Amino acid sequence: MPTVSDDILFKIKEANDIIDVISSRMRLQKAGKNYTGLCPFHAEKSPSFSVNPDKQFFHCFGCGAGGDVFTFLVKYENISFIDAVKKLADRGGIALPKTESHIDKKTAELKDKLFAINSDSADFFASNLNTTFGASCLDYLKKRGLTKESIDKFRVGCAPDSWDSLLSRLKSKGHPEELIEKAGLIVKKEGHSSYYDRFRNRIIFPIFSTGGNIIGFGGRVLDDSLPKYLNSPETPVFSKGDNLYALNLAKEAARQLGYLIIVEGYLDTITPHQYGINNVVATLGTALTESHIQLIKRYTKKVVLIFDPDTAGVKAVLRGLELFLKTDIKVNVVALPEKLDPDNFVKKYGKDAFLKELKQSVKILDFFINYTISNTTINSIDDKISIVNETLPKISMVKNRIERDYFIKKLSEKLSIDEKLLRQELVKDAESSPQKSRYERDSLPSSLRSPILNDEETLLKVIISSEKLAERANEIINIDDITNGAIKKIIIKIFKLIESKTAPNIESILKDEDESIKNIISKLIVEQSLSTTEDFERAFSESIFMIQKNSIDRKLNEIQALIVNATNEKNEKLKEELLQEYGKINKIKKELKKHKG
Ligand code: CTP
Ligand code: MN
Repeated sequence: MPTVSDDILFKIKEANDIIDVISSRMRLQKAGKNYTGLCPFHAEKSPSFSVNPDKQFFHCFGCGAGGDVFTFLVKYENISFIDAVKKLADRGGIALPKTESHIDKKTAELKDKLFAINSDSADFFASNLNTTFGASCLDYLKKRGLTKESIDKFRVGCAPDSWDSLLSRLKSKGHPEELIEKAGLIVKKEGHSSYYDRFRNRIIFPIFSTGGNIIGFGGRVLDDSLPKYLNSPETPVFSKGDNLYALNLAKEAARQLGYLIIVEGYLDTITPHQYGINNVVATLGTALTESHIQLIKRYTKKVVLIFDPDTAGVKAVLRGLELFLKTDIKVNVVALPEKLDPDNFVKKYGKDAFLKELKQSVKILDFFINYTISNTTINSIDDKISIVNETLPKISMVKNRIERDYFIKKLSEKLSIDEKLLRQELVKDAESSPQKSRYERDSLPSSLRSPILNDEETLLKVIISSEKLAERANEIINIDDITNGAIKKIIIKIFKLIESKTAPNIESILKDEDESIKNIISKLIVEQSLSTTEDFERAFSESIFMIQKNSIDRKLNEIQALIVNATNEKNEKLKEELLQEYGKINKIKKELKKHKG
């Protein structure tokens, strides 16, 4: 990420009018306040690409791309953010302060030094295998079934039972203590200025980046002492949430085979590789993260997670559920029989049996549904309802309609709940989702209805444009009525800015946000259905009204479905309760409408 200050970025933007920059690269035509043209980021015949000169933002209503002048250049020329900054600074005659690029250079230098320390350490660890202590390590590794080839391929080594052997080796190679500490290899003695080796009396597994640099280490004890594994701490070159063990070795195989296998341990990775299953990687003692997903996506769009069938393993898998449903990566899961981990399974049954187990893997959502159902004792309709409540929102996150349908059918069969009913519920969810335009919904007619923005987007547009309205929204809105997660996130951020007495301008809102958020905001800014203050005021009340009404409707529909169910089940008591609840909420709805007038 750039180390250029916000001030400088602002100056560079000022010196580079977005219309000039874009129109020197493609044809733009004036259309109202905006300029439009054929989108350079997707194929189209009629222009849906708009640029707003006032706000200096572009947005394509066809493909959703959008952002400021930097974003445009990054995408258009396929360059990094920092290169776009340099280019525009140059174009605008803004000098980038020396210290800024200096900082970049310094970070790169620091990283290189840490890589060198890690590499020398790995050499040291590997060479230790030839010592007396190393003989016992080799014995242990042999006992675990590792061949000489695997030991070399994964550069496995060992750290002797000594407080400073690594430290003195690295010092003799000219590495300063301060950097060795930064690499996470030594630890300061409490209350002293001297250091001791972090890894002692352990088998050492170096961890590589996909580019092949050593970024950290994992160390295993040779017996039953604790902690069994010790990993490098987070360092400038190592972050557990950003890296996968052995991805450097597995990436090509994953690309060729079309999928990646993710396991949980070092040996659970090495043993399959030794048996010719080369597309295996491991997490480093953390749950999978968004940045893992981005990393994986470079090589494949399909993963199989192998997890421990114990509760912790299941929980670890399910923690990633929403993350996976949101991406376009296909995720299957499987637990191996006899509670074996991949290491033990492959050694016991071999490669073919392992691959056969992978074929038994199921979609992660299938697993979740089965798991939720098998963990609930279904005594009453309430139990079914709670299963539906837990699983339906997840099903609604599935992007593919056919796949969604499949899960609905499945849930309906498993719970013997009418499929139509579940589908209705799902539609309710989808209708309030901002994917659909307002025209597609049977909502109140309005002079201000934009063909492009839905209610939640309209509200966001309005409160981005007016601090006063943002303050009012903060008082009125129940944030949980907002259904779109991204919009909700931005609105919460705006409210927080207001509460901390910071003006919620576009810069402060977009700070630290990723591309998807920028795309949403650019769309709102470029869209031009509202112009006068009065327009904004009216759009404000309208959108809030619709958001509240939709939220109430969702609740009513939920209850309605439950009433149908209760009737089917002849549960009179529940039905009566539900009817009362329905009446209460319906009254609130009537008041809301009356209030609106
Ligand atoms: N792990 C860790 N710290 C621990 C325990 C585990 O970082 N204290 C990570 C390691 O990456 C380890 C993985 O979690 O490889 C799985 O742990 P576990 O199932 O306990 O060990 P195995 O990999 O099966 O190790 P082994 O077969 O060597 O006993
Ligand atoms: Mn194991």
